[in-house]
Amino acid sequence: MANLFRTKNVHDLLAESQETEHGLKRSLGSMALVALGIGAIIGAGLFVRTAAAAGNHAGPAVIISFLIAGLGCAFAGLCYAEFASMIPIAGSAYTYSYATMGEFVAWIIGWDLVLEYALGAATVAIAWSEYLNKLCTDVFGFTIPYEWCHSPFQTGPGGEHAFFNVPALFIILLLSLVLIRGTKESALINNIIVTVKVAIVMIFIFVGWKFINPVNHAPFIPENTGSFGKFGWSGILSGAGIVFFAFIGFDAVSTAAQEAKNPQKGMPIGILVSLAICTALYVLFAYVLTGVASYKDFGVGGAGHEASVAYAISHYMAGYSWLSTMVTVAILAGFSSVILVLLMGQSRVFYSMSNDGLLPKVFSELHPKFKTPAKSNLLLFVFVGFFAALIPGDVVGDMTSIGTLFAFVLVCIGVLVMRVKMPDFPRPFKTPLVPVVPILGVLVCLAMILGLGWENWARLIVWLAIGFAIYFGYSYNNSKLNKNKTPLDR
Ligand code: ALA
Repeated sequence: MANLFRTKNVHDLLAESQETEHGLKRSLGSMALVALGIGAIIGAGLFVRTAAAAGNHAGPAVIISFLIAGLGCAFAGLCYAEFASMIPIAGSAYTYSYATMGEFVAWIIGWDLVLEYALGAATVAIAWSEYLNKLCTDVFGFTIPYEWCHSPFQTGPGGEHAFFNVPALFIILLLSLVLIRGTKESALINNIIVTVKVAIVMIFIFVGWKFINPVNHAPFIPENTGSFGKFGWSGILSGAGIVFFAFIGFDAVSTAAQEAKNPQKGMPIGILVSLAICTALYVLFAYVLTGVASYKDFGVGGAGHEASVAYAISHYMAGYSWLSTMVTVAILAGFSSVILVLLMGQSRVFYSMSNDGLLPKVFSELHPKFKTPAKSNLLLFVFVGFFAALIPGDVVGDMTSIGTLFAFVLVCIGVLVMRVKMPDFPRPFKTPLVPVVPILGVLVCLAMILGLGWENWARLIVWLAIGFAIYFGYSYNNSKLNKNKTPLDR
């Protein structure tokens, strides 16, 4: 059983990262990494889940939710940055934990990251479908029938039973094909989209500021309705778990470490700069959104429940209907870049796990011409597409949040373990104030997990149980660290 905690040698890991000839191409500089981070960060969390968190949980105090979530991410981000600069290898938290806490914990994290990346991509695809419908209605006067753009677990306002979400499936397919073509091309498209996305957030903040109605901000913390998580301070905590989704992705930068030109410098910059820029934008954005429209509009069944930002502009910002259309188009492009980075992160994590023998070889086979894990991208399309087409956005979104928070907790613990186990290993970037920062990271992330409620804890437990079955049924025996091919039961 001690073998469960076998670790990968850090020096071997670093040697692997030098082997670029047959591996992934090193093409990303510091700025490209910041762009990659922002590309993954600003998306459905801001443009869809902010309003949902305000409408159902926190009211205008969603701003405080953002600060809590941002704080948790900053602590975890500082831990990520130390790891990413020490072990600049594709695979993110999975790889770091393999070198520190051993194979079993690494497996748990790798498996858990599927929730973050694959289900995160599905969540954003579902949000993409919402905004596509808004665009079709506003510009082309045509609305996609409810049945074909929602999950079968949802029922429309007129009692329609949905079948499956066609646009969400479509965008996943399209972007999987883009990824197969290659990282460099994807990074270029990403840079253009990031610029548009940041511009649109700033325009909304700037123009919307004039339309803030102070009445909408009072009371700032609506009174708790009597149940946990429904407004009041527990609502702020639930809101934090939900808008935490908006920060997911800054760690995706670390999954591209093997493609970074100078990972020791680029990794910490990519992670921390993209996180700082986004936190500032989110707080301002949430302030304006909950000031322009009442948070009550955004609750389940409210008029602004779907495509909330476009709704707020077209209903409350007279004379700016052009902005609503522009925002919708930019959001569609912005969501695409998020999905792209998340899908890429997922295939890179599987690439590492497969290289280590924990997953079948198919996940690390590179396309002969494009040098991308093309088969893995196609398999992931099937998996992510399944969730995007059939499961409601709130459910996959909360699963994404809880899975990521859990991975963050393990990464924060990993920094502490590593400082004890390998105190002298070179760390181009050191997490400040250890052990305070990692411990606070663990506490804030656990608080947000608490805020997400028992249904999500149950889903996480089921997911981990499936992961354990695969680990003990396949990965343990096939691991490259299992040199003597000793079966588990001997
Ligand atoms: N942070 C990303 C988003 O908000 C996942 O869409």
